[in-house]
Amino acid sequence: MVKNGEHESGILPAGSKRILTVLGCGALGTAILSGMLASIADLTADNSGSLFAHFVGCVRRKDAATAISDRLGSHANAANVEILDGQNLRGVKQADTILLACQPHMYTAIFDEPGMREALRGKLIISVLASVATTQLELALGDGGGYFVIRAMPNIACFVRDSATVIESPQRAFPDALLRVTDTVFRCVGRVFYIKTPVFDVCTALCGSAPAFLAVIIESMVDGAVAMGLSHQDAFHMAAHTMRGAANLLLDSRNPWTVRHQVASPGGSTMQGLLTLEQGNVRLTISVGRQAHNDIT
Ligand SMILES: NC(=O)c1ccc[n+]([C@@H]2O[C@H](COP(=O)([O-])OP(=O)(O)OC[C@H]3O[C@@H](n4cnc5c(N)ncnc54)[C@H](OP(=O)(O)O)[C@@H]3O)[C@@H](O)[C@H]2O)c1
Repeated sequence: MVKNGEHESGILPAGSKRILTVLGCGALGTAILSGMLASIADLTADNSGSLFAHFVGCVRRKDAATAISDRLGSHANAANVEILDGQNLRGVKQADTILLACQPHMYTAIFDEPGMREALRGKLIISVLASVATTQLELALGDGGGYFVIRAMPNIACFVRDSATVIESPQRAFPDALLRVTDTVFRCVGRVFYIKTPVFDVCTALCGSAPAFLAVIIESMVDGAVAMGLSHQDAFHMAAHTMRGAANLLLDSRNPWTVRHQVASPGGSTMQGLLTLEQGNVRLTISVGRQAHNDIT
C-alpha cells in the first residue's frame, strides 16, 4: 500500500491499463475498491477487473486514510492502491477514471478546488451520489463540456462482490468504450442492471439502502430468537443464511407467492406467523418506508 503519494505514478502504464481514483473514499468507496482488488486477484473470475492497473482513494482526513489503508491492506494486491488525504487534485490528475463517492452535498466543494475542473475534463466520471442527477453534476462542472458523467447506484455488498448495481442508461450519446469501462467496474463487484433516468432514484432505496433495511429485519429475527433462549451468534448465522437461501430460491423460481405457499402449510405455524406480520402492516410499512426514503433523498 502506498500512502500519501510516496511515489509519482501519474503516467498510464504501457498497455493502456486504466487508473481509477475514488473521490471520497468512505464506506462505499472502500467496499468497491475492496471488491475490485478481490476480483483481480481471483483467478477463477473473468478477470475483467485487470483492466485497471492502479487505484487511488482520496479522503480529507489522515486518520480516515490510515483506516482505509488498514482495511485494504489484507488484499494480496494492496500495493496497487494509493490512499491520499487532502490531495484530490493529485488523485484526479493521475487517473483516467473517477469514481465520485463523497457525501451527496460535497461535490461542488470538490469541483471548486482550483484546477479540478480542468483535471476532470475528458475523463470518465462515475457518480454514485444518491439523489444527484447527472445533469446537476454536468451543470456544476460548468461550461465547455468535455466531461463524461455517468450515474450508478451500487450497494455495500460490493465488499463481498454481490452488489446489485443499477447504471443509468445514458440520455445522450456516450462513448461505448466508457460505458464498457463503467460496466466492468460494477461487474467486478456484483450484478449490473440498466435503468432509464425517470425511475433511477427508485433504485436508491431498492438497491443502495436496502442492505440497511434487510439488516434491521435480520436483527429483529435474532432478537426474537435470543428472547426465546438461542445464543446471539447461532441466531445471527441461522437468520443470515436463511435470508440468503430464501433470496437464492426466489431468484431461482422468480415467484414470491409460490415460495410463501410452499412454506405455509394449512393450519401450520408459518401461516400464523404470516398473519401476525400482516397485523403489523408489514407490506405497507416496507413499501411506504421505501417511498418516504425516496422523498427525503
Ligand atoms: N454507503 C452505502 O451503502 C451507499 C450506497 C449507495 C450509494 N451511496 C452513496 O455513496 C456516497 C458515499 O457514501 P458513504 O456511505 O461511503 O459515505 P461516507 O462513508 O461518509 O464517505 C464519504 C467520503 O467522502 C470523503 N470526502 C468528503 N468530502 C471530501 C473532500 N472534499 N475531499 C475528499 N474526500 C472527501 C470523506 O472523507 P473523510 O472521512 O476524510 O471526511 C469520506 O471518506 C454518498 O453520496 C451516498 O449517497 C452510499
